[in-house]
Amino acid sequence: MHILVTGGTGFIGGALLPELVGRGHCMTVLTRGKYSDSASIRYVNDLDAIEGKVDAVINLAGAGLAARRWSKGYKREIVDSRVGLTQHLVSWLERQQSRPGLLISGSAVGFYGQSLTDVFTEESGPGKGFSAELCRQWEVAAQTAESFIPQVVLLRLGVVLDHGGGALQEMLKSFQLGIGSWLGSGNQWLSWVHRRDVVNAICFVLETPGIQGPINLTAPKPVTHGELCGVAKEFKWTFFSAGMPSSVVRLLMGEMADELLLNGQRVEPQRLQQLDFVFEYSDLRDALANILGR
Ligand SMILES: NC(=O)c1ccc[n+]([C@@H]2O[C@H](COP(=O)([O-])OP(=O)(O)OC[C@H]3O[C@@H](n4cnc5c(N)ncnc54)[C@H](OP(=O)(O)O)[C@@H]3O)[C@@H](O)[C@H]2O)c1
Repeated sequence: MHILVTGGTGFIGGALLPELVGRGHCMTVLTRGKYSDSASIRYVNDLDAIEGKVDAVINLAGAGLAARRWSKGYKREIVDSRVGLTQHLVSWLERQQSRPGLLISGSAVGFYGQSLTDVFTEESGPGKGFSAELCRQWEVAAQTAESFIPQVVLLRLGVVLDHGGGALQEMLKSFQLGIGSWLGSGNQWLSWVHRRDVVNAICFVLETPGIQGPINLTAPKPVTHGELCGVAKEFKWTFFSAGMPSSVVRLLMGEMADELLLNGQRVEPQRLQQLDFVFEYSDLRDALANILGR
């Protein structure tokens, strides 16, 4: 297949692209940067530079949600780089004479808002807050393609864990400095997923005919932040014996603290399980042992 990937130069793309090449696909990656093409991957800065028919699209581009404090300007960049880019992509796809049969488009578990008690499946509605509204708009932009693309799949990603980037890299930095601790109450949920399972699930969607709509891409066993720190202790990371107070986290991180760190959501990958997708990493302990090479 010829697959168009946006955001392919990022953390998920870093594992996804080699896997897709290994499976015999060729790719065009839409990027803002300059990269050298390889035998199977061509990089373009503009959709109109794409050559040949695209069979499937994987849309992952977006400015990092936790990369900077949420100023007004950065919030606009977060929205434009997802919603704006997806609208642009969809309108380009609509103009093509020969269109792909599948669009896999990014979203996140932030769609559901935050709760200590609710369990969210794909049937749950959208929550409240900046992240929830961002994901809702991002999904709506992709769903516009449903009138001319037979399969539109919305990947509601959990917090992706692996070495070399993402959330775990930030956690490891603070753990290695000896300041790792849970944040706030520690009771907030973390719906995590190993990057290997993200790659496997995307390939599963590409290779399984007929999948459509939202897919929760989270490990079957989410944990609380307190439990995460308990498991991390087994790996001999250093901790304060108490959590970092919410007020300190808010002071350090601003508005982002309440949406991404002090609150979370317990999400179940109901559809993937119904489709008999097999997770390589269901248990956080196994995932961390793999990532940390123990
Ligand atoms: N990693 C996670 O834990 C996680 C969790 C939930 C959802 N997601 C979503 O899944 C997608 C992929 O995740 P990831 O971790 O691979 O992301 P990432 O490493 O931050 O990479 C995303 C890519 O988006 C492009 N990008 C960044 N800022 C942009 C901007 N202002 N305008 C246009 N493009 C921009 C970049 O590509 P170029 O520099 O090549 O243009 C970048 O490589 C993201 O949209 C993210 O929100 C990720």
